[in-house]
Amino acid sequence: MNEILEKKSLAQGITLIKIKNELIARKALPGQFVVIRLKEESERIPLTLQDYDPQRGIINIVFQIVGKSTKELDLLKEGDTIMDVVGPLGKPTEIEKFGTVVCIGGGVGTPEIYPVARGLRESGNYVVSIIGARSRDLLIMEEEMKAVSDELHVTTDDGSYGRKGFVTDALKELIDKGKKIDRVFAVGPVVMMRAVSETTRPYKIKTLVSLNPIMLDGTGMCGVCRVEVGGETKFACVDGPEFDGHLVNYDLLLKRLNTYLKQEKESMELFERSCKGGCHG
Ligand SMILES: Cc1cc2nc3c(=O)[nH]c(=O)nc-3n(C[C@H](O)[C@H](O)[C@H](O)COP(=O)(O)OP(=O)(O)OC[C@H]3O[C@@H](n4cnc5c(N)ncnc54)[C@H](O)[C@@H]3O)c2cc1C
Ligand code: FES
Repeated sequence: MNEILEKKSLAQGITLIKIKNELIARKALPGQFVVIRLKEESERIPLTLQDYDPQRGIINIVFQIVGKSTKELDLLKEGDTIMDVVGPLGKPTEIEKFGTVVCIGGGVGTPEIYPVARGLRESGNYVVSIIGARSRDLLIMEEEMKAVSDELHVTTDDGSYGRKGFVTDALKELIDKGKKIDRVFAVGPVVMMRAVSETTRPYKIKTLVSLNPIMLDGTGMCGVCRVEVGGETKFACVDGPEFDGHLVNYDLLLKRLNTYLKQEKESMELFERSCKGGCHG
């Protein structure tokens, strides 16, 4: 259980791992996530399911190395096991036939939007996907997204590939061209999800975003993942992680995400010091 069957680097600092877990693979649905703990004393980290194979009992995760825990995860090799993988958690994405939908993925949001786009296409929607990255070398999963979309638009901030600009520029262009859009789904950095929500707000296009507050238990018990949506407190792990993007209090979310920056930096420095000459992926 939880053996790493495959590990692949998708881009600088972004890794895909395939983990053996029959139970989760059998139950997983688009939009859901797992909470993993590498060993007894490790912290818990929530990661979205990029894909799942119920027949072979395998789940896929794509993660960005941002701090101590994701660095430690990246040090594991094929054949190693992860102590706990809990899930599938969170409410699955509401998938039905809406008409024309736009699926937007920014950075490591792209692997997260992939099963959503696939599910929406399988349900008969016309799927327009927009994926973006800072530059060409950080762009991931283009082929996979092409395979599950009727149209794919690619943006890079620096113009090194696709359309120069942000995913919101491509979205605005579609709206300005008069494309009728029934629903937008966006996953990526908080600032990106806020910008997407502001782009669609004047047009009243329903927009779903997947929130990423700090989480601990992932089961609605600890209260750490609370977010404000439509003036009400919600727990992202059990009420979400998907919410109506026009109702999210993004300022509060950003503030809460930055609460432990000092401790996270210290923890990474300690880890790197303890690793000197010893830890290799
Ligand atoms: C529902 C959900 C799904 C996610 N899916 C993915 C994914 O598919 N791929 C991916 O790369 N990342 C994903 N994340 C973010 C991922 O959990 C964090 O990047 C990770 O926990 C960072 O841990 P760290 O110790 O390496 O970094 P740290 O140095 O501890 O933190 C770096 C930043 O990561 C965030 N973070 C830290 N701890 C947590 C935590 N327990 N919960 C949430 N955010 C945290 C904070 O914003 C923090 O500033 C998801 C987060 C949530 C809530
Ligand atoms: S992570 Fe504990 S309540 Fe959501």
